[in-house]
This record gives sequence, structure tokens and C-alpha cells, in this order.
Amino acid sequence: MDKITVLSLFPQMVTDALSYGIIKRAADIMTIESRDLREWGLGDYKKVDDTSVAPGPGMLFRADVVANAIIDVKKEDSDAYIIHMSPRGTPLSSKKAKELSQKKHLVILASRYEGLDQRVIDNYVDEEISIGDYVLSGGELASLVLIDSVLRMTGNVLRMDAVEEESFQQGLLEYPHYTKPLKFENKEIPEYLRSGNHQLIQDNRFLEQLFVTWLRRPDLLRDYPLCKINVQNKNPLTKLKKHNILLKKRLNAFERVIRENRDVRRFKKDD
Ligand code: ADE
Repeated sequence: MDKITVLSLFPQMVTDALSYGIIKRAADIMTIESRDLREWGLGDYKKVDDTSVAPGPGMLFRADVVANAIIDVKKEDSDAYIIHMSPRGTPLSSKKAKELSQKKHLVILASRYEGLDQRVIDNYVDEEISIGDYVLSGGELASLVLIDSVLRMTGNVLRMDAVEEESFQQGLLEYPHYTKPLKFENKEIPEYLRSGNHQLIQDNRFLEQLFVTWLRRPDLLRDYPLCKINVQNKNPLTKLKKHNILLKKRLNAFERVIRENRDVRRFKKDD
């Protein structure tokens, strides 16, 4: 990733938000620019929007204005990859962020109002991305979420081992973290963390990951190799079970629940 360009009506909002912490550090090693769509606005008032031609609510960005902006950006860099932030887009995920981090130049269109004229999406936009099943008043915040997640996947921005350990990176939610004091109100840190036994800590952290994922995001477990229990070597639990009998019992129970859950799901789908 060499460059990110955001096209929006509020470029300052994007610039300001990118001037903190790790994201600011990224700006030192690559170009991040935020451009005002009014640069391509029409007439004295630099008009960028218009009413919908068919009955329907609100205003839309004009196709010609947005197309001209993209054409100009592409004149400078024909490889630019054009993204439109939209609740109708592909959901943003860790995998998607990683994929986008391989692009040389991302151009992110942050629309407002009711969005973009469909013809400009069809002719100029490579991909629409959504950051969740809710509608924001504009694409700027969504662009910032996308930029943050993509930059974290870009070499040099974060320590890659830190990224590897994070939630979703390995298909599971993250284990809980603790710091000082060791006793806080009525709670102590878990016993295993004080054991000094690296393997025990790893095993328990993995279990914590499995349980929190199972409780909060059972959908993620569907794709986790845990379910492919007949492929013994690939099952991450096989190794764990070998050196911990107590763990083995809990994991067997856990696997059973996952298996039953899967069957219930399949049953419901076929129904
Ligand atoms: N613009 C408005 N809502 C959005 C969302 N949920 N994701 C991406 N862009 C948006």
C-alpha cells in the first residue's frame, strides 16, 4: 500500500481523525490524502448533489460530479482501486482488510444523503464496502474504520505478531487481558496466569477464545478447523488434548456441542 485517497464533502473530518497514534505513524511512510468533492462541483456554488429523478426520499450525489473526480484521480494513477462506502456493500472483515491492504492505491468514496447515482457505481466503482448493518449519516466515519483496519494489516504500521494474535485474525475472538493490580475490587487475575507455565497459559487462553467465540459469535466456529474433527492432524485440539487430560474432557464436551450445533443448523437450513 503506497497511497490512500478519500473523496468526501468533509475532508477535514478525515484528515483530523487520521492524525493520532498508530494511524498518524502510517501517514509518515505512505501518502494519505483527503480531497474535497466540491473541487469537481458544478457552477458558482460547486453543486455536487441533486434530487432523485424518481419518487423517493432525499438527495443524491450527481453521477457526473463523482465520475469526474474519479477520472481525475485515475489520470494520476490508473491502478487506483475505487471503493464506495455503503451499507449495501460487502461486509468489512479482517480478511477483506488484509486483501485491500495488498492494493497499491485505494480511493475511498464517502457519500452522503441517499448515496450515489447507481450508474456511477456501475461504471466507476470497483467495490462497495459496508462496516455494519446500520446506516450512518455519511461515509466519512465508515471510511475511517476501513482505513484503520487496512493500515493495521499493512507491514511496518503495526508489529505483525501483534496483528496475528488479534481477534478474527485466527478466526476466533481474543482471550481476555489483565494488568496490575493483581487484585482489583473483588476480582483476582486467573490462577493460570500466575503459574509461570507457558504451555498452561497458552492452553487456557485458547480455551477462553473458544468459549467466548462460542457464546458471542457461534457463526465464526462454523469455519473454524475445530469442526473438521476427522482430519486429526489439522485439528488444533488434538495436540492440546495429548498433554492435558482435564482439558481433554472439557474439549471433548465442547466438540460435542459444536457438532450438535452444526447438525441443528443444517437441519434448520434443509427444513
Ligand atoms: N455509509 C452509511 N452507512 C454505512 C455503513 N453502514 N457502512 C459503510 N458506509 C456507510
